[in-house]
Amino acid sequence: MCGKKVVTLHGKKTFREEMGLIKKNPRNWHVKSGQPLTEMDKRILFFQNKGHLVPTRDLIKTPEQIEGIRKAGMLNTAVLDLVAEKIREGMSTLEIDQLVYDFTTKHGGIPAPLNYEGFPKSCCTSINEVVCHGIPSEEEVLEEGDIINVDCTTILDGYFADASRMFIIGRTTPERERLVQVAKECMEIGAEACKPYTFVGDSAAAITKHAHKNGYTVVRDLCGHGVGNAFHEEPDMEHWGKKGTGMLLVPGMVFTIEPMINAGGWQVFVDSDDDWTVVTDDYSDSAQWEHTYLMTEEGLEILTY
Ligand code: MF3
Ligand code: CO
Ligand code: CO
Repeated sequence: MCGKKVVTLHGKKTFREEMGLIKKNPRNWHVKSGQPLTEMDKRILFFQNKGHLVPTRDLIKTPEQIEGIRKAGMLNTAVLDLVAEKIREGMSTLEIDQLVYDFTTKHGGIPAPLNYEGFPKSCCTSINEVVCHGIPSEEEVLEEGDIINVDCTTILDGYFADASRMFIIGRTTPERERLVQVAKECMEIGAEACKPYTFVGDSAAAITKHAHKNGYTVVRDLCGHGVGNAFHEEPDMEHWGKKGTGMLLVPGMVFTIEPMINAGGWQVFVDSDDDWTVVTDDYSDSAQWEHTYLMTEEGLEILTY
């Protein structure tokens, strides 16, 4: 026993905690008493004891779950490949939606967006200044020079896989081409930064650095997410932020990386006409790519190729 006087609060929160100034992370990782610690337990407990946010056990997928998500990912990729083949000037975004619905259901899948929290269609189609969650419509016809994100999520045998790509309609401006390219690089650089026992914020910092270096901003109000057994699981995969923040990433976790990169400011708003469509505040262009990734012992593996 050292000579320091110990003042306890008898379980009461300090004023700073009460005010939400210190956010204590939940102790998510539990080991049954008497159970020997695995190497993984030891590594996760090390970070948990330092106060970091660590995953709950249910976020570590079983081999069977991983195979299920992989199969959902393969169908999802086939859907996006079909969109890539058919998308053209003069086509409405509703036609894209119909392709997605017909192909997915024909192959035994369900488009996850359909009726998800009231979303009325089978995929999201987001053109130019639309950041994400654009609703396919008969009135919306693709024009030469448009850049469009098509975001598809497929449920197959109860497992979910989520991915999106940008498409350029005909020829566009060099500015839009560069935005689409850099947004893709941001996703790839964010994925490259994810190694076992790094943090969500490490990936976010790498994405932010690349976007800013190219004169772009990163949308802060929306993030990637765990995925696989449900559409949106923990953790929040931030794309903007500081190293060492957010959840610890460990082998067996499955999540998306889907940075939304703006040519202008990072601020966005939700269109009050439909309560879904997210648009840049300054109406500048925005681009996004997304994959579903599995954390392995070596780093990330793409499940939506
Ligand atoms: N696919 C989107 C994502 O990447 C979510 C779309 S939700 C919807 O997380 F309801 F708009 F489909
Ligand atoms: Co997603
Ligand atoms: Co998506």
